[in-house]
Amino acid sequence: MLKALHAPIYAKRIQVLADLIVRSLREGDRVLDVGCGVGALGRAIQDHPACPPGVIVSGCEKFPRGGEAIPVLAFDGYHIPADDRAFQVAILADVVHHEPDPDPLLAEVARVTARALILKDHIEQGLLARPRICLIDWAANAAWGVKCLFRYFTPAEWRAHYQKIGFQPTTELTSLDLYPPLVNLLFGRRLQYYAVAERMEDPAPRSPESQP
Ligand SMILES: C[S@@+](CC[C@H](N)C(=O)[O-])C[C@H]1O[C@@H](n2cnc3c(N)ncnc32)[C@H](O)[C@@H]1O
Repeated sequence: MLKALHAPIYAKRIQVLADLIVRSLREGDRVLDVGCGVGALGRAIQDHPACPPGVIVSGCEKFPRGGEAIPVLAFDGYHIPADDRAFQVAILADVVHHEPDPDPLLAEVARVTARALILKDHIEQGLLARPRICLIDWAANAAWGVKCLFRYFTPAEWRAHYQKIGFQPTTELTSLDLYPPLVNLLFGRRLQYYAVAERMEDPAPRSPESQP
């Protein structure tokens, strides 16, 4: 019942997110969708008419469901089985607010990401924001048994997280028309956060003369 009610809302969300994400992709990018769930977002990105050629999206999941729409790497929650900077882009769509200890997760995702981290999460903004966001979080996850912590970072907290892992935001949206119209009024817009954070330039290696 919950799954059936949620299906059209989820479909619209996937379409809106794919429309946004393809703008940050470049030809031949390898993309990792961390916490990919059923893999619908990765599939929608790869099949998107504006997706640059040669983009390949794979997923990784701590709690794989089976039958995902994209290839999925096993993930124990600590180590992604991939080399440093193996992917140009990583996506974390509504995943971090489910993770009790986000620092190790974000550090591990940063390790395998060469260029950009794409974040979608919730923020508590506006009238009765907390009950509204907790309700949509629960409704979107209960049927799949995904545990909700009901903890959402502020944009300032997100920026501190990017800084810690050596990334900086180049796009930050604090309002998104993510769902079909009426649902969007109640649960979309200012309860939604989307950001693209790019790897900061590595510091240039110091020349031997400048070293003490
Ligand atoms: C709300 S669903 C989002 C699924 C997908 N990203 C999407 O946008 O449709 C949250 C997903 O995060 C996964 N997840 C939760 N904690 C995780 C973690 N520490 N590492 C990887 N995935 C995690 C859950 O198994 C679940 O599939």
